[in-house]
Amino acid sequence: MNQPIMKGVAAINAPAHVKHQKLINWVAEMAALTKPDTIYWCDGSQEEYDRLCAQMVAAGTMKKLNEAKRPNSYLACSDPTDVARVEDRTYICSEKKEDAGPTNNWMAPAEMRATLNPLFDGCMQGRTMYVVPFSMGPLGSPIAHIGVELSDSPYVAVNMRIMTRMGKAVFDVLGSDGDFVPCVHTVGAPLAAGQQDVAWPCNATKYIVHYPETREIWSFGSGYGGNALLGKKCFALRIASTMGRDQGWLAEHMLILGVESPAVNGQPGKKHYVAAAFPSACGKTNFAMLIPAIKGWKVTTIGDDIAWIKPGQDGRLYAINPEAGYFGVAPGTNTATNSNCMASLTANTIFTNVALTDDGDVWWEGMTKEAPAHLIDWQGKDWTPAIAKETGAKAAHPNARFTVAATQNPVIDAAWDDPAGVPISAFIFGGRRSTTVPLVTEARNWVEGVYMAATMGSETTAAAAGQQGVVRRDPFAMLPFMGYNMSDYFQHWLDMGKKIAAAGAKQPAIFCVNWFRTDENGKFVWPGFGDNMRVLKWMLDRIEGNANGVENVFGITPTFGDLNWDGLQFTQEQFNTITSIDKAAWEAELKLHTELFEKLAYHLPAELEATRVALEKRLAA
Ligand code: OXD
Ligand code: MN
Repeated sequence: MNQPIMKGVAAINAPAHVKHQKLINWVAEMAALTKPDTIYWCDGSQEEYDRLCAQMVAAGTMKKLNEAKRPNSYLACSDPTDVARVEDRTYICSEKKEDAGPTNNWMAPAEMRATLNPLFDGCMQGRTMYVVPFSMGPLGSPIAHIGVELSDSPYVAVNMRIMTRMGKAVFDVLGSDGDFVPCVHTVGAPLAAGQQDVAWPCNATKYIVHYPETREIWSFGSGYGGNALLGKKCFALRIASTMGRDQGWLAEHMLILGVESPAVNGQPGKKHYVAAAFPSACGKTNFAMLIPAIKGWKVTTIGDDIAWIKPGQDGRLYAINPEAGYFGVAPGTNTATNSNCMASLTANTIFTNVALTDDGDVWWEGMTKEAPAHLIDWQGKDWTPAIAKETGAKAAHPNARFTVAATQNPVIDAAWDDPAGVPISAFIFGGRRSTTVPLVTEARNWVEGVYMAATMGSETTAAAAGQQGVVRRDPFAMLPFMGYNMSDYFQHWLDMGKKIAAAGAKQPAIFCVNWFRTDENGKFVWPGFGDNMRVLKWMLDRIEGNANGVENVFGITPTFGDLNWDGLQFTQEQFNTITSIDKAAWEAELKLHTELFEKLAYHLPAELEATRVALEKRLAA
């Protein structure tokens, strides 16, 4: 049933099932500030989703794709200036600057509020304010938390329905006084009476603002991805990391996968869950859905981007995926790189900034070996392979995305929605490094593992606005997503390790990987994708005490003979290329670790600097 939409700012019109007066008061306060024409409380139903999508098709924001080829799916194309997360416009507004730390943009809360207030004043005029209640994590799970996003973007409302558990049931969990994180979002494009809207409203001025002490999120000017779908990076990482610090848990930029060994002699295989952190656009979604290249092994997905991890009664760490969908990078995704993902995208998907085929379907670079003869590119222009050759024009934006429900993943793990979460056996950290970092290294202990994660570097990608391909330090793949001081976060990780040990539980093993080393011609040497199973198998065998490795300066690595090579032609020489440790390169790398630690000197845990010094000595020896 459609809810009646009441006209006028004063018409808060909270449905009867909303019993939370504080929430209603907040909506009223925000409506008084932003002055929307109407307020609409989302119920999360399919009918509502279809209706909002139809509305956006009529407004030109989305195109309905060919129903026969891609049922119930849409293409949205953004303004060309609004295509990625804007890290330079992202702020952590803690009371004290040092609590945001040197890796974050900071402004004092009072000053930021004074800056934002005039921008938000009347920012929703001529638009509808959508009240979007959502749970990050299974409804009612002890690991989950609730947010409410107020947004003037119907695109946000429908994407949030896919990406989170969104709708009426959230109010039941909230009750009359439950906690929620208030999230306010506007595209920052008020409409004067009679003014024609544009297909993708946004504003050249952008602010993505977090107040960690009061746990609020305010986002202005962008309708795209992590800037606008506030449950994802803003809540599930930046605000949640501060909640985790205060409450003793972890909010991480990690996929979670289940991996099961083959059955032997009628005995079922052994199953482990691992969580892996990689920077944006480094293949997390592919890794989370990989089809093992080794026969008999099975990989299943809990999540592809974010993990919330809390200690359980037994002292072990238990993880949930706070999200309910995938907002993945489309370019490069195909049936060879991620066939499970391609299968997920066959219906009920929102595509953003990919190209439109002449028969009403979608295409992106890398989707098929041969490009279609003609396309409409993500900016609405004619595109042909010849035009691309001449001008370099991309059919899809390199950060083009799909939004799809996790339940469409053919290898979704049976426990993906389990409120108790899954126990984590190992953490994996990896960056995109064409040189220096070997294929896989196991940390000898928790502190060494935290050091590996803290000093991670990666070559930048199109997921964030800015220069691409330059190595930047990206501790724990959290650089753009940390809600507080990075060194305090390192300390939090060290403390978590101590707590697990003190509870008598086994600490998860920690590994560092690099799939991206290149040869002298700049070509990737490691086949990656399903062959990453070879590395995963070695890790699990190590955890089970069934695999060898050799100790080097940094930790433990497999020799050629320690990995399974069934079905792959990979030579010892190739293996050497991606596992060699070049002394000069590592001396230079350690200088960069020193630089990082100098930058993070305030509250840097002494154990990490001691680990660096020990490494330096071992390397020199
Ligand atoms: C993402 C990102 O969208 O990391 O997941 O940028
Ligand atoms: Mn991510």
